[in-house]
Amino acid sequence: MTDYSAAKSGTFRINGDLEVNRLGFGAMRVTGSGIWGPPADHDEAIRTLKRLPALGVNFIDTADSYGPDVSEWLIKEALHPYNEGSIVATKGGLTRHGPNIWLPVGRPEYLIQQVHKSLRNLGVERIDLWQLHRIDPKVPANEQFDAIKSLIDSGLIRHAGLSEVSVDEIKAASKAFKVATVQNRYNLVDRTSEDVLDYCTEHGIGFIPWSPLAAGDLARAGSLLDSVAAKHGVSPSQIALAWVLKRSPVMVPIPGTSKVMHLEENIRAAGVDLTDDQFTALDAEGRNAFKSG
Ligand SMILES: NC(=O)c1ccc[n+]([C@@H]2O[C@H](COP(=O)([O-])OP(=O)(O)OC[C@H]3O[C@@H](n4cnc5c(N)ncnc54)[C@H](OP(=O)(O)O)[C@@H]3O)[C@@H](O)[C@H]2O)c1
Repeated sequence: MTDYSAAKSGTFRINGDLEVNRLGFGAMRVTGSGIWGPPADHDEAIRTLKRLPALGVNFIDTADSYGPDVSEWLIKEALHPYNEGSIVATKGGLTRHGPNIWLPVGRPEYLIQQVHKSLRNLGVERIDLWQLHRIDPKVPANEQFDAIKSLIDSGLIRHAGLSEVSVDEIKAASKAFKVATVQNRYNLVDRTSEDVLDYCTEHGIGFIPWSPLAAGDLARAGSLLDSVAAKHGVSPSQIALAWVLKRSPVMVPIPGTSKVMHLEENIRAAGVDLTDDQFTALDAEGRNAFKSG
């Protein structure tokens, strides 16, 4: 047992149903360079995933396209059979043709095929949260949303979410199914999705900020959080995560790492309490960096 836990971040109930500790884990980084193929250090990736339950992390985000398939396979290898109450959320709708190449395909038959594949990859009969990775601009959005509704109706997925969407797109999808979560890029220095976050907060939709550490930029020595972190005796990544957690009660951050040491450091953020003044000062600093970046 540890003296710190993701449970200290508080909980969020997905669609008013499944309760998770808000500080989660993103499993994109347990793959090879360019999110392609197996990780450089398979054993460390497995150790990182196996460490999650003891740290109170019961919300894991992945996608069929991470590897592709590799991230889902490793999650199954490390954690199956899953602890009760532990949620593995996955995504579909992006295809891979090489390292760092991501191309959307939203044809209903493809989305449905990928859900069947993720079920097999993860070793489950139903996916608790499945997210449309991108709305494919080449396919009418309603066809993609109706496919998601059919997946919920058939019981293959329990709840559904969207990724990289606008408020109008959430409203359009909501006509077909109840949008449980939205996963957009968001962190202290990327505030593009403020309006989407506010909409989610108002409507109780889970907001899953991807790259909460700005893909590692906010975790490195020399980041803009260095001095404030040093003042509080914590690490820059902990300040970055404590800030997003305080930003909204619907926030469910999924920092990603391939290393146990970084995972443990990040989960300690759940115990970092920023005062309102500290939160506001960081907010201003982040907005300035965003404007000038
Ligand atoms: N919906 C989407 O379109 C989308 C897009 C991208 C990502 N995502 C999801 O969001 C998750 C998080 O995003 P992300 O991985 O891009 O960005 P992130 O969580 O902001 O940062 C991850 C990077 O930071 C490094 N890192 C993590 N903790 C650290 C620490 N304590 N000290 C130093 N470096 C640290 C990691 O390297 P090490 O491995 O060396 O620790 C990794 O390179 C992904 O895993 C994935 O689940 C979703």
